[in-house]
Amino acid sequence: MLSYKKLLTVAFFLLIFCEARRVLGTDEIPSVQESRHARALPCPIPEDILPCTCSEDVDGAIDMDCSHVESEEQLARVFTATIPFPNFRRLVISQNTHLKSLQRGALGRTSFREIYVMGSVLQEVQEGALNNSHATLTDIRIYSNNLADFPFQELPLFTSLLRLDLNHNDLAYFPVLQSDVLSYVDLGYNHISDLPSEAFRNVSQVAEVHLTGNRIQEIHTGTFAGYAKLAFVSLGDNQLFFVYPGAIQLTSLQHNTVHLHNNLISSLEVNAIAGVVEGFVSLHNNSITTLDEESLRPLVEEQVEVDLSANPLTCGCDVAWILTDDTILSLIDDDATCTSGELLVELDPQIYIDLCQIR
Ligand SMILES: *[C@@H]1O[C@H](CO)[C@@H](O)[C@H](O)[C@H]1NC(C)=O
Ligand SMILES: *[C@@H]1O[C@H](CO)[C@@H](O)[C@H](O)[C@H]1NC(C)=O
Ligand SMILES: *[C@@H]1O[C@H](CO)[C@@H](O)[C@H](O)[C@H]1NC(C)=O
Repeated sequence: MLSYKKLLTVAFFLLIFCEARRVLGTDEIPSVQESRHARALPCPIPEDILPCTCSEDVDGAIDMDCSHVESEEQLARVFTATIPFPNFRRLVISQNTHLKSLQRGALGRTSFREIYVMGSVLQEVQEGALNNSHATLTDIRIYSNNLADFPFQELPLFTSLLRLDLNHNDLAYFPVLQSDVLSYVDLGYNHISDLPSEAFRNVSQVAEVHLTGNRIQEIHTGTFAGYAKLAFVSLGDNQLFFVYPGAIQLTSLQHNTVHLHNNLISSLEVNAIAGVVEGFVSLHNNSITTLDEESLRPLVEEQVEVDLSANPLTCGCDVAWILTDDTILSLIDDDATCTSGELLVELDPQIYIDLCQIR
């Protein structure tokens, strides 16, 4: 019979053993093969879904990686396999050079919460291709592809979709967006030239909009106005030359940011950008020559930091109101320069006091 002391020793070593397994188990990421032998469920049999691979996360979520598919037909065949647990977390297709179309029916009966297709050659997502994931998808990230067609008309059916990220693609026009839940929209680096003022009218929860790197020339009145959660707008690297009064009127109290850098804006209209409370506005590298008090004062009075660097500022009496007020000057980026080459922040305020009529 085991003595009490021996029992304690055995129990002690058992405890150490279990702890070591637990620690090691979370550190190492098992390959698909290993996890199959360790546990047949919940991934399908690896051979059945080749060249896709299934992996299970520590918290039990299962992902499908189909980066190595060689054709539309092969992808469709993979999803005819026996898939005991068809509710996946993520579908990944990365650096693939074959798949041009995500076809209707290709994903069989499976559903996904996240779809990631990146650095690949996908040109279209067919209508109905994501049918089984209408209720589950929270994230659609199809970026750095050649995407020109996406079933935007299905967006209202994606009742959990928070993030739509289609940057670096070939979208030629701004799509009709409609969703009661979508908050993050990234259509940056496409070929969009027109941004309708109604673009977000049916995306009431929109919080973050990325449209950097398109060919948009104007932002119309009301485009970014009236959205309670909107706090981030980026239209850097476009061909903007005009932002209409009332174009960007944020009401969110979060950290607001407006990026309009690398454009062709030559003057800032009164009330073109408002509500960026305690936030940041970049007008870096535009064609602004004067800093009119009527346009800029409402912004700096909201404690907005304004980046005006790389603009051809003439630094005449139009900047007197800035130079004679240290608080305002501190909100203007230190790198703002005059066409003369002098830094705005280093100009002598006395000259402006002497030579300009200060109100
Ligand atoms: C699935 O997609 C097709 C289009 O291919 C559509 O006609 C059909 O109504 C969709 N079904 C559901 C349940 O949304
Ligand atoms: C917004 O939704 C309504 C109702 O479905 C529709 O009539 C309208 O055309 C939509 N507007 C835009 C800009 O998509
Ligand atoms: C400045 O903006 C113009 C577009 O207005 C762009 O072509 C140019 O590359 C930008 N310069 C830099 C240094 O980013």
